[in-house]
Amino acid sequence: MNKVRICVLVSGGGTNLQALINSQSKGDITHGEIVGVISSNPDAYALVRAEKAGIPSAVCIKKGRSQEEFEDELISLLDSFRAEIIVLAGFLTILSSRFTNTYNRRIINIHPSLIPSFCGEGFYGLKVHEAALERGVKLTGATVHFVNEIPDGGEIIAQKAVEVLPGDTPQLLQKRVMEQAEWILLPQAVELVCERMIDK
Ligand code: GRF
Repeated sequence: MNKVRICVLVSGGGTNLQALINSQSKGDITHGEIVGVISSNPDAYALVRAEKAGIPSAVCIKKGRSQEEFEDELISLLDSFRAEIIVLAGFLTILSSRFTNTYNRRIINIHPSLIPSFCGEGFYGLKVHEAALERGVKLTGATVHFVNEIPDGGEIIAQKAVEVLPGDTPQLLQKRVMEQAEWILLPQAVELVCERMIDK
């Protein structure tokens, strides 16, 4: 069967990349195949995870270059992987509307809250969970969505709720959201998008 070629963009630890790799080896992702990993950070542990899984990787750094130069290199790397779907899994470098328009409905992101809560500019990493605790919500979670020019504003693909518990710190909540939502939801959503693309 023809598989959708997936490229995963990372900047850090890569636990979501690992969840995708694990799902692929368990046979839970069948309509797609991770063909490449691109990191905006040369020291990202995600690169080690890619290597251990035998997935080719590349580094593309923004520092010291214009947005256009950075994205031109990113596009040529994506072309070299012949990527059909791009998964942002903790990718911390901003992408312009020129880039997101190039890959309309082909870029998927995971955000650690139930969008439209605690999302958009400035909501990344622990800041998302700090804001959820500050607001006193009893439920939070994760959202997988298509990426467009509005930060966290693209069409929602899947969501999963997670309970906030008494005594939670941002770190504890972040860990629970990852374990109970992100690592389950992202592979499921990627498989769903790939399946829809193949069926088209
Ligand atoms: C995750 O919380 C994800 O939701 C957000 O960035 C974090 C990446 O973590 N977009 P990791 O690099 O996958 O461990």
